[in-house]
Amino acid sequence: MIMNIDRWALFGLTFMLSCRERPAPEPEAERKDAGARATPAVAADAHAALDRMDPRTPLPLLPMMAHHQKQNMRDHLAAVQQIVAAVATQEFATVEKAAASLGFSESMGRMCAHMGSGAPGFTDAALQFHHGADELVEAARRRDTPAILTSLGQTLSRCTGCHEQYKQAVVDEREWEAITHETAREPP
Ligand code: HEC
Repeated sequence: MIMNIDRWALFGLTFMLSCRERPAPEPEAERKDAGARATPAVAADAHAALDRMDPRTPLPLLPMMAHHQKQNMRDHLAAVQQIVAAVATQEFATVEKAAASLGFSESMGRMCAHMGSGAPGFTDAALQFHHGADELVEAARRRDTPAILTSLGQTLSRCTGCHEQYKQAVVDEREWEAITHETAREPP
């Protein structure tokens, strides 16, 4: 126990000294630091390293849109989970309801168009996915298990196809407006 306290005291002292003695950050690191949180230069470098490893097409999104997209995506995955479980127990009403949440609607279409403003091809991929999911709804209405599974397989290949092609690229309002020539605003 005493040993532990000593270790912490030593750690604290080393930390204080190292903070005091730390050389001034390089000018490059300082610029990246501006206005951000703890160790932002390191975080920015790490993000840049990740970005260089990932050759997918960037999908520019404002932070709120990126957050919203991820929420939607997690809902999509939850819907797929519900569909698989409900097919196994032949609960077609549940399959239909979960599939409908993946299907096309006017508001979904508008949101996909907005999300894809800065990346050609994204909106089309999104719309194809939602229209494909409409076939899944139809198959569930017919209580046609083989057709449900075929359609679910096609829907999932549109999930993976889009993931293979695009990565989120979070941008600020100025970048967003420069890329899309749209006024930055909240997603519809
Ligand atoms: C039209 C494109 C597109 C389609 C279709 C699509 N996604 Fe995504 N999804 C994305 C993008 C872009 C990301 C962010 C990927 C990244 O930056 O690495 C994402 C991320 C995700 C994530 C991660 C969410 C998080 O919290 O980080 C999940 C889970 C996901 N998608 C599930 C699905 C499922 C399940 C389907 C199909 C039922 C699907 N997606 C269909 C584009 C798509």
